[in-house]
Amino acid sequence: MARVDYTERIPNNVSLADNRRLLRALEEWQPRYLDWWREMGPHGFQAKDVYLRTAISVDAQGWAHFDWVRMPEYRWGIFLAEPQPGRTVGFGEPRGTPVWQEVPGEHRGTLRRLIVTQGDTEPASVEQQRQLGRTCPSLYDLRNLFQVNVEEGRHLWAMVYLLQAHFGRDGREEAEALLQRRSGDTDKPRILGAFNERTPDWLSFFMFSFFTDRDGKYQLAALAESGFDPLSRTCRFMLTEEAHHMFVGEAGVGRVVQKTCELMREHKTDDVRRFGGIDLATIQRYLNFHFSVSLDLFGSEISTNAANFYTAGLKGRFEETKKTDDHVLREATYPITRPEGDTIKIVEEPALTALNERLRDDYVADCQRGVDRWNAVIRRHGIDTELRLPHRGFHRAIGNFAELRVSPDGRIVSQAEWDARKPQWLPTPDDQVFIGSLMTPVVEPGRFAGWIAPPARGINGQPMEFEYVKLGSNQDGQDA
Ligand SMILES: [Fe+2]
Ligand SMILES: [Fe+2]
Repeated sequence: MARVDYTERIPNNVSLADNRRLLRALEEWQPRYLDWWREMGPHGFQAKDVYLRTAISVDAQGWAHFDWVRMPEYRWGIFLAEPQPGRTVGFGEPRGTPVWQEVPGEHRGTLRRLIVTQGDTEPASVEQQRQLGRTCPSLYDLRNLFQVNVEEGRHLWAMVYLLQAHFGRDGREEAEALLQRRSGDTDKPRILGAFNERTPDWLSFFMFSFFTDRDGKYQLAALAESGFDPLSRTCRFMLTEEAHHMFVGEAGVGRVVQKTCELMREHKTDDVRRFGGIDLATIQRYLNFHFSVSLDLFGSEISTNAANFYTAGLKGRFEETKKTDDHVLREATYPITRPEGDTIKIVEEPALTALNERLRDDYVADCQRGVDRWNAVIRRHGIDTELRLPHRGFHRAIGNFAELRVSPDGRIVSQAEWDARKPQWLPTPDDQVFIGSLMTPVVEPGRFAGWIAPPARGINGQPMEFEYVKLGSNQDGQDA
């Protein structure tokens, strides 16, 4: 295994020291990255010591190191999963030929676009979450937020490495542009819709980490199959970190649900708002919103781009290598959900152009498993309610359902019915005000806000009352 080079400023296992040109390009980019981090990273906490894990190798047994660090001093590094000797392209026309260590000329523009689109989501989420620290429900949660943030920063590094190492001058320009766009900005927005939404409160943050980070998992998994081996290896290692982000989301929502159930039982009412909890109906509306905007990230049900990516060996299916078909899909079909008149039908389409929908299906099944675990919490409290994923046509802006109004239970409804029922289906201004009213910071070690249950255990074996963020620590850094 390539050893981490700590003698260089950028920890890496890609032998950066041997590539002076690339090292210089990255060292030039690094200060601009830090400017971006100071401007757009977590607001108000740049000078605090945070108990963070840092990737120090790609060894499954000990890739992470935990220590106190101020975020601007975090060692953002470049790590690729170990190469698989003799790896061949697993799908599409180049199937069975050796994977590429350099970008094939004919796929240069397409690969660059795929990498930039993925890379753009990483800083976007940091920007979306930058105000959340001020309203944390506990030091434990504050630390988890910052862990996610610094790792999204590292994921930007991972994509910028690919751009700088393999795409020459175009790559350098893209690396700059990734620092220029801003989430929610009207002139220079981030590329994808969900990454321009606001993340104004912690319920939204947990939902985002569960639903939107999970889109990231599926995109990374599809790119991890790529015939372009550096992309594959980069994504494989990013998935290791991504698992924690989804844990933060699933456990976060699960703890909110648990607290809600405790309050429901204690006070024998569904209306737990009066007791400082978040009622299940509100949780359902937030779920509806975040699930639907995340579904859009997979793109249109029918996509010739997706077919071309696949046929070229650039982007595979989820767990491509575990599938037992021909990995070419020229003859195969796949079921697609589509509106026809005033009903919704399932029709067979060519599997190649249906690849977005297929990845979305894998994603939906994964989301459902998480929702089932939340529902198990509700059931354990003897409460007869369920959280549900809304129909895939609900509240969509992209694809077959974009022009329609679909209810959460999958009926095509009139605009009048939509307008009348929307307050039951999506977060209302009143919900947002209420959730906002709960967002008062709790920063005493071991204490938690009244709307969320404590976690089952601390981070890295530390106790719950551990000081995960030292708020009293040195103030001499520049706090934005
Ligand atoms: Fe990420
Ligand atoms: Fe993530």
